[in-house]
Amino acid sequence: MTETFDMEVPILGGKPSPFAAPAGCYCLEVREVQHYTDSLFRFRVSRPKEFRFRSGEFVMIGLPNADKPVFRAYSVASPSWDEELEFFSIKVPDGPLTEHLQKIQPGDTLLMRKKSTGTLVNDALLPGKRVWMFSTGTGIAPFASLIRDPETYEKFDQVILTHGCRTVPELKYGTDLVESLRDDPLVGDLVRGKLLHYPTVTRETYVHQGRLTDLINSGKLFDDLGLPRMGPEEDRAMICGSMAMLKDIKELCLSHELEEGANNKPAQFVVERAFVD
Ligand code: A2P
Repeated sequence: MTETFDMEVPILGGKPSPFAAPAGCYCLEVREVQHYTDSLFRFRVSRPKEFRFRSGEFVMIGLPNADKPVFRAYSVASPSWDEELEFFSIKVPDGPLTEHLQKIQPGDTLLMRKKSTGTLVNDALLPGKRVWMFSTGTGIAPFASLIRDPETYEKFDQVILTHGCRTVPELKYGTDLVESLRDDPLVGDLVRGKLLHYPTVTRETYVHQGRLTDLINSGKLFDDLGLPRMGPEEDRAMICGSMAMLKDIKELCLSHELEEGANNKPAQFVVERAFVD
């Protein structure tokens, strides 16, 4: 895609960039960075007052470090009411964006295209009793947004956040978040009554072990949570993870007789289609 340049990157309390920002982009100030593992980190940036999005959507982000910056799709991990924007990212050693992104510091500038989009939104699901959020790795990001949004709890009686990772330290972003929400003034009461969290790992010993696909197939996921098997009457699902995971969990939703929905045709489950490399 060809970028056009019509504005200077402002100096936002950090290092000035010698590059101009592409048209149609916001320049945002990095406010906070937290590293979890060698391959995972989260960061928060300023939010333009006029920027609106629906919890669960993604945006395109980049860095002002080249004439033609590399942009990648990132789910906004913060809810739509938050004054800042949060992102949860992997670090790919030679990733065109994440190689540089992983070095950002408070005060640096981040570029973000002005339009958000995505299918993992409450509007794309029909009302139901419960919503299953199936995630692996950084696929938890859109759900980090949705579990902080009171609208999710207005729509569903039970919200089940599942998160599959290889190792326990990779779960920390999710476990810290869920823990912090229990005392949250806005959603604390809702979370305590309605949110169930099911973190699982595949390559270490932990309270829950195994791939989400295997846990669904064996029924262990439902038994552990004391819930019935998924079905089209009561259950809705959202899926976010690697290509292979999306495909496999989608198959499982279909085999449980759930129908795939979209923004213009709400149904019983939705699949994310944004990736980072
Ligand atoms: P595994 O360790 O058995 O590969 P990744 O970092 O490769 O995206 O994997 C994140 C987590 O998702 C890992 O626990 C991994 O398990 C699991 N995983 C990988 N592929 C699938 C899949 N197709 N369905 C469900 N879980 C998967």
